[in-house]
Amino acid sequence: MQNIDEIKKQLLSQIIISDNPREVLKVPELKQLYIVIKTLPETDRGSYGKSINELKMVLESAIKSREAELEDSSVEYIDVTAPWDVNSKPIELLPTGMGSQHPLTREIENVIDIFTRMGFEATESRQIDDDHHMFETLNFPKNHPARDGYDTFITDDGYISPAHTSTMQNRILIDGKGKLEDKGQIGVVAYGRCFRNEDIDATHEHTFYQYEGVFVSESATLGQMLGTLRSFFEAYYGQKLKIRTQPSYFPFVEPGLEFAIEKPSELDGKPGEWLEMLGCGMIHPNVLLAAGIDPKKYRGFAWGGGIERLVMLKYGIEDIRHFESGKLQFLRKFV
Ligand code: PHE
Repeated sequence: MQNIDEIKKQLLSQIIISDNPREVLKVPELKQLYIVIKTLPETDRGSYGKSINELKMVLESAIKSREAELEDSSVEYIDVTAPWDVNSKPIELLPTGMGSQHPLTREIENVIDIFTRMGFEATESRQIDDDHHMFETLNFPKNHPARDGYDTFITDDGYISPAHTSTMQNRILIDGKGKLEDKGQIGVVAYGRCFRNEDIDATHEHTFYQYEGVFVSESATLGQMLGTLRSFFEAYYGQKLKIRTQPSYFPFVEPGLEFAIEKPSELDGKPGEWLEMLGCGMIHPNVLLAAGIDPKKYRGFAWGGGIERLVMLKYGIEDIRHFESGKLQFLRKFV
């Protein structure tokens, strides 16, 4: 009897973890129990047989519930949002291998890779923001005409689709304050989608991407910024480049510059063909102050530019609208 109890315990513990619980009934110990019957005195056989039957019933019900459990876990849930019929088998026939990375995603990774190798941290920008980050902390006075220059989309309750990645500057500065004290500098590149309510043509889209650099230290200079940007463009286009700047105005930098490169010779550029790539400058003291950083102690530089422009030049893409078009003919060129 004790033997029966032991076998019961042992087999039950196997059944609850087995993928094929019925197999457990084939163990020799169970057969052995039947053989034993014949060796018993007749008076004991009745009660012994009963115990074996009970054991069989217990095992059978454990097997049934384990089988039900296994069946349950193989139920496939239906994804009603799937763009094609992923719910029908066989799975191997689905065109999952046909997708490819969007050229912008790939180039953003390239851009971020270059800056992180220089020591910058990377952070993604937001797709919905507010007046505080779009204008207020960037030294745009209320009702200043420069606000209109950004053609922002604004919701009735005051939310803003960011028109540039500069919306991240205040956040980067606030998050980085601790690092200024520990490491003596902040160096972050933000990237992401921007939106402008613009008339659309071959060089203007309502939806586009930017990358934004913010660097702060006690001794940051304009020369460091130009060196950083030159290194970036030379790494991105894989050749030495000439650079040029001209004065420009953005409320959040002083001085503000437009930064241009000479069209890379590798891309059929001729000497004297200048391409404006981004806006940049020394971070305005008010922008540092808005983040609680002392502009008497620290100085910084920032830049912001369009990713499409970089990519269009690299691959000779003539129309910015291709990027958001979803046209396979265009996308397939980048597989
Ligand atoms: N945010 C500016 C734009 O998109 C570019 C810029 C960024 C200029 C940082 C200066 C400093 O127009």
